[in-house]
Amino acid sequence: MCGIVGAVAQRNVQEILLEGLKRLEYRGYDSAGMAVLDGRSRLHRQRAAGKVAALADCLESVPLAGGTGIAHTRWATHGRPTERNAHPHQSGEDVAIVHNGIIENYESLKQELAEQGYTFASETDTEVVAHLVAREYESTQDLLTSLQHVLARLHGAYALGVVHASEPKVVIGARKGSPLVVGVGIEEAFLASDPLALLQVTDRFIYLREGDVVRLSEGGRIEIFDAQGQAVSRPVQTYEHGDGASSKGDYRHFMLKEIHEQPKVIEATLEGRIGDNGVLVKSFGIEAESLFSRAKQIHIVACGTSYHAGMVARYWLERYAGIPTQVEVASEYRYRRVVVPEGTLFVTLSQSGETADTLAALRFAQERDYLGSLAICNVPGSSLVRESDLTLMTQAGPEIGVASTKAFTTQLTALMLFTLALAKVRGQEPERQAQIVEGLRSLPERVKEVLRLDPQIEALSAAFAEKHHALFLGRGSHFPIALEGALKLKEISYIHAEAYPAGELKHGPLALVDSEMPVISVAPNDELLDKLKSNLQEVRARGGELFVFADENVAIERAEGVHMLRLPHIDDALAPILYTLPLQLLSYHVAVLKGTDVDQPRNLAKSVTVE
Ligand code: AGP
Repeated sequence: MCGIVGAVAQRNVQEILLEGLKRLEYRGYDSAGMAVLDGRSRLHRQRAAGKVAALADCLESVPLAGGTGIAHTRWATHGRPTERNAHPHQSGEDVAIVHNGIIENYESLKQELAEQGYTFASETDTEVVAHLVAREYESTQDLLTSLQHVLARLHGAYALGVVHASEPKVVIGARKGSPLVVGVGIEEAFLASDPLALLQVTDRFIYLREGDVVRLSEGGRIEIFDAQGQAVSRPVQTYEHGDGASSKGDYRHFMLKEIHEQPKVIEATLEGRIGDNGVLVKSFGIEAESLFSRAKQIHIVACGTSYHAGMVARYWLERYAGIPTQVEVASEYRYRRVVVPEGTLFVTLSQSGETADTLAALRFAQERDYLGSLAICNVPGSSLVRESDLTLMTQAGPEIGVASTKAFTTQLTALMLFTLALAKVRGQEPERQAQIVEGLRSLPERVKEVLRLDPQIEALSAAFAEKHHALFLGRGSHFPIALEGALKLKEISYIHAEAYPAGELKHGPLALVDSEMPVISVAPNDELLDKLKSNLQEVRARGGELFVFADENVAIERAEGVHMLRLPHIDDALAPILYTLPLQLLSYHVAVLKGTDVDQPRNLAKSVTVE
């Protein structure tokens, strides 16, 4: 979950690397650093604790100059977020290295190196790799071979970028378990954790595969070797999302921009997937129809917000496609003795496609007797996409804000398409399918209407800024929406928030309710509305202040201590998508009022590529 950039160019690379780091800050932002080789084979390094802006200040006072370099923005795993632990790490004056991931056997390697007289300047696992490369180089006198020898000794996950003062026009990269792409320039070549980092210099990328090692050298030369050391060629792909995602435009934060992009990206996710007769099953891949018709149950595995999307899908898949569904967080699933009933389809959900636990769960599932695997993912070329049998791409475009917003609603949109595809193949309730398809067509418009309620939602946020706790309630498919609302509030405003199925309130959490505990409830006009209303009365009777997001047709009495916001009517099936929006906006405004770092909340990173 750190960000790596590297370059071998004809020009000075400092600004390219720095811009790349700024664009990668979503991956981690507790320290940053850069190492550049000058024209006289000398290595120069600058590092700073804190965000990339702190490194930029250092570079302003003492610039680095040279055409070859590597840079890094860190999310601390081993060692505190200090300058000493910031990457690049060096071995002597010759080797510099940047690393994303975890070297699991670093302690034994460190001991071995220490016994040979190597000294360590940091608390990181990465520094051992720098020393190992330096040691190998003494005998091989070749950076590529040295790194290949070292990789054979590493356990764990990594994306690496390495330079050596004796090869001033070379950057070597390697990936196993962490993403790494090569940017193809004109007579120059680049390396990064994410294409986004390099869009200012190229839109052509090579997505390295597991075990690949790459040598970038003078004149834009790119040589790739697979895990066995064989030279291989990998396709060059053009990046299609454009570069708009990397700027905030007129918005104050990426999160707000991404919330407002939802009508457009939901529409893009639907595009080409609905025909005159409902969902186009073939849009899931040629094998989809046969796989879906054989599926007797579904296992969904994901993390965080993506897991919440999976929880909503369970309600949909059982209700509309009549297929038994289990949902589980990936970090639990991967260590469980899972019983796989015959005919089970394995589904992963991930914005990034690089979440370590989700990827490990997929690999674990591939060793079991599943029917096949489907990935619903937002990043083409990501590990999850490449390793799954079928993929359904969400079209959210790059999501920069650490708090997931548009990725979640596009996942829900894709999951509803998946539900309808299964329902169609299994011949379930065609009239109901047709109604939901109609609802999907008008969904982007409904979403726009909800976004217009932003000023009213902002007005509600003042009631939360001084509070320390909040409770979110929902029933049925809106319980996961309540969970997602609570996650949004806690991750960006640092207010402790919990979510409960409203019917559980009386079994314990009601004891927490008083005037200091705002209670937020989503109340679409569905079959559970009357039961939800009773639960809300339970809160009111204890003096709790209620914030209710309700369907425009729902009759809920206005009363003191009850704040109500009406949402446009929508088909019950699609209400979870619509009711997510006010909760995103509410969290956003509370965080702004509290003055927290909305796009880069403390202790978090966008892409969790470590276990
Ligand atoms: C939520 O706002 C977070 N960004 C986080 O929970 C995220 O959903 C989780 O880390 C999974 O990420 P993925 O979708 O990229 O796999």
